[in-house]
Amino acid sequence: MNTPVEVKASRSYPVWIEKGLLEKAGERIRERTGAKRACIVMGEHVVKLYGDRLQRSLEHAGFQVLRFVHKSGERHKNLETYGELMGLLARSGMTRSDLLVSLGGGVTGDLTGFAAATFQRGVDFVQIPTSLLAMVDSSVGGKTGVNLPEGKNLAGAFWQPLLVLCDPLLLETLPREELRCGSAEELKCAVLRDEGLFNALSKDPALAASEDVIRRCVQIKRDLVEEDEFDRGSRRLLNLGHSFGHAVEACSGYEILHGQAVAIGMAMIARAAAAKGICSVETAEKIRAGLCALSLPTETEIPGEALLKALLRDKKRSGDSMNLVVPETIGSCRVEKVPVEELGDWLRLGGAK
Ligand code: GLY
Repeated sequence: MNTPVEVKASRSYPVWIEKGLLEKAGERIRERTGAKRACIVMGEHVVKLYGDRLQRSLEHAGFQVLRFVHKSGERHKNLETYGELMGLLARSGMTRSDLLVSLGGGVTGDLTGFAAATFQRGVDFVQIPTSLLAMVDSSVGGKTGVNLPEGKNLAGAFWQPLLVLCDPLLLETLPREELRCGSAEELKCAVLRDEGLFNALSKDPALAASEDVIRRCVQIKRDLVEEDEFDRGSRRLLNLGHSFGHAVEACSGYEILHGQAVAIGMAMIARAAAAKGICSVETAEKIRAGLCALSLPTETEIPGEALLKALLRDKKRSGDSMNLVVPETIGSCRVEKVPVEELGDWLRLGGAK
């Protein structure tokens, strides 16, 4: 048994990263709770792959298990699915000392966490991420929520899990494209805090799904969450590539996957930062080349005008300015407050057509 990454936030918890953890999930969870019942929340694809194995492990550890299966996809992370889950919890007589277990990617984790934060004013939940993106980003740090028709993640809460169990063996069934999306978030962590990790990942993309790289990315995320749990300062650095990326994602009608859009956003902001003299041209080129090495896109044909409109609707805009995360060197970034009237210029310098 290796050691977990410990997160010290408003609630402290371990993030275990270990091959074969799914089978040991019940025992690891039992070490931290006396709950009688556990409700597994999972999408319709994940239930077929891993639902029974997790249920057996939980039952073996003495939990009575119930299941909630939701439709897969970001558009089902909504109030309707949330309402169905809350209804099931209420009808089944779940109490405040019982437990929710998320088995899935970011959609399932966000939905489960939000239900846990609000059912009877808060119950425990466990994150068992099945995508690389969820392992290195969304399962750690306690951001939970669902989308409203008016925008992404507009209903949400900070609610930290009881523990996180990352089993890299679960990545073996993940489509290649989704693995790449996860590696975009890993490269983002590297640009934020770790040049050595950046060089290793760009040289050998197969490392993306390794225990060591997942662990290092979780440590980087942990450090930022501990510095600023409620996202008012340094945690915002995790938005590197996300402002332009969200605009690309929205303009494509969500055809471009989140990780691909973040990759384009990172390449664009690096180009713009180089043009503004914030980083060197070599740094911007190194970021572009690193993304290419991971088979990620670095450009978009979406017109700059459309990107600007989408950018202005971003919930991270505050009044007449927007905080953009910009690279200074590989391993160091800062938040730059940009007046909205200059955003078009930044997009153009980033390579928008
Ligand atoms: N996914 C960004 C954050 O957790 O702050």
